[in-house]
Amino acid sequence: MSGERIRKKNQAKKAGSRRPVCGATPIPSAPALPPSSKPFSPLDWLRSVSIYKLAICLLLPAALIGLLALPQSAQLPALVTLAIAVLACVLSQLVLSRKAGAPLSLSEPALISGLIIGSVLAPDTPPLLVALICAIAMLTKRLLRIRHVPLFNSAALGLLLGGLLLGTQDAWWASASTPVLSALLALSALVLSWKLKRLPMQFAFLAAWLALWGAAAASAGNAPAPSFFLGSLPLYLMAFMLLEHTTSPMRPSWQILYGGLVAAAAFAIVLSSFQMEAILVALLAGNALTKLLLFLPGTPSSAPAAGAGVELCLGKADLAEGSTRCVSAGGRNFSLVRMSGKYYCVDNACTHMGGPLCKGSVGELNAYTITCPWHHSVFDLRDGQVLRGPAQESLRRYEVSVRNGQLYIRA
Ligand code: FES
Repeated sequence: MSGERIRKKNQAKKAGSRRPVCGATPIPSAPALPPSSKPFSPLDWLRSVSIYKLAICLLLPAALIGLLALPQSAQLPALVTLAIAVLACVLSQLVLSRKAGAPLSLSEPALISGLIIGSVLAPDTPPLLVALICAIAMLTKRLLRIRHVPLFNSAALGLLLGGLLLGTQDAWWASASTPVLSALLALSALVLSWKLKRLPMQFAFLAAWLALWGAAAASAGNAPAPSFFLGSLPLYLMAFMLLEHTTSPMRPSWQILYGGLVAAAAFAIVLSSFQMEAILVALLAGNALTKLLLFLPGTPSSAPAAGAGVELCLGKADLAEGSTRCVSAGGRNFSLVRMSGKYYCVDNACTHMGGPLCKGSVGELNAYTITCPWHHSVFDLRDGQVLRGPAQESLRRYEVSVRNGQLYIRA
């Protein structure tokens, strides 16, 4: 063997045995294509459609049926209110995204907020007030956050603040108690809860709601009409507001607590105020409780203690805005993303079939999503939730901290 070849061989061996100076190492390359593709089936479609698209597909017919149930003179104003609300929410979100430097795209969550606000507000609400309520909803969603996740259901908060500050009235016309609408809302609640894995929460809410109103009716000796406590309004709340994945808990035990407490608070408030829209207060109180639970010791998403965490071989300047990096630390692989100046870290392996998420794209559904390169499942970087299948399991996410310009995760 020539001297030159021996020298090159030794160099290669030396490079191979070199230890990284800290925990981050490149991840071995993964195939860019999926190992196989499955034949289409309706159940697969239901699994794979994004939760946002599914919610929109269910909200629209609910609004249409509610519209037809209104007196003829109120139908056109209700349609105008709905259109303005959708437009105002989407535009407000675009303006806020532009200000934050996030990619500009049609925001499905904003569209959903617009559909809910437009379907709840009284049809004769002045257009300017409708637009203002939507702007308030989108702004508070952006401002009131804990650990990058919205604190409150934006539509509920917008509607409540609209009533308090602007004197607007809620009519909940897309939850009129007609048999067809009630059936659609019950189906929506079931399907969306199944997709979001929030069935324990919904059952807890329904059980507590029925038990409390049933007990009240029995003790008064004068049973209220079933439509009062089993009408479409609680079903609408369950289907489209209670189970919003960013403002409701993920753990089954917390879901049961959350569903039961929201039902109890709603019962107490409605009973004392005789206003069904006061139910929004109970929902927002439940949202706040969810975020308080995150601070309990031992919570998986608790922030790392000062000094704790695994150091990555990355400085904060090494990750460009809107980009993704594959890193490994402590023998595990992660996908690290920088978005709007903040860092997000999730397991690198997609929960569907292990696709390499760090090779996927970010910002497809909204600024905080990552898409698997294999079968295009979409996950929310802020809480790891599946937003579009075929993946069914959430991703584990990790808090990222920056100390002395270096990135750390709690792994
Ligand atoms: S591996 Fe199939 S969607 Fe990620």
